Amino acid sequence: MRTKMVAGNWKMNKTLQEGVALATELKETVKNPSCAVVIGTPFIHLATVAGLLKDSPIEVAAENCADKASGAYTGEVSAAMVASTGATYCILGHSERRAYYHETYDILREKVLLALENNLKPIFCIGEVREEREAGRQNEVVKAQLEGSVFNLTPEQWSCITLAYEPVWAIGTGLTATPAQAQEMHAYIRSLIAQKYGNEAADNTTILYGGSCNAKNAAELFANPDVDGGLIGGASLKAPDFCTIIAAR
Ligand code: 13P
Repeated sequence: MRTKMVAGNWKMNKTLQEGVALATELKETVKNPSCAVVIGTPFIHLATVAGLLKDSPIEVAAENCADKASGAYTGEVSAAMVASTGATYCILGHSERRAYYHETYDILREKVLLALENNLKPIFCIGEVREEREAGRQNEVVKAQLEGSVFNLTPEQWSCITLAYEPVWAIGTGLTATPAQAQEMHAYIRSLIAQKYGNEAADNTTILYGGSCNAKNAAELFANPDVDGGLIGGASLKAPDFCTIIAAR
């Protein structure tokens, strides 16, 4: 059976002190979750938050890593550095990084490989923009994103991948995909995995939904057979909301 998961993506929110306060609140509340729980924090929070959550079921993710292993890349943070903090996951391919920081399929392929080499489990994000959905092109977009950056992986490497389907038009907009739209896309993504890696690998791959998933709509999204959990932005910044979403999984 594949892992069910609720993951938070704090994005560029919370000072270190605010992040520690939120992680502390989550640690006190999330003691015995019925799914995997991950929080994605800014780089500077990672070591402190991972230390704080050491004896907790909550795991920690970076929101990015460099596409180079080490060296003269001022301001970058490598996958090895992320792993050295105690973080165990790395969110990669988020639409905000693709759009604002020009992360291409090739760059993301490198990042995924470096994350895996450093024993970080990628949470790899895919999803179409509004114009692509309106043109009925969402399937081809998502397929190209997978083929461009992660379908080069070996079956063994693939087993470490979590996917997050995040329709860009639903991120931070309050426009959630309907449960039927989410299920349809997740089933399609799973069929692509089955074609590439076989039915067992497809069955074992965790596919999260992200995009205005919140305490009110999480349960009906998670009720779909191919929606294994959520990647939560805004609603992961408030402990009660995030905990309600975890309980819905
Ligand atoms: P929101 O939940 O704020 O829409 O963000 C979703 C997201 O981008 C998670 O990675």
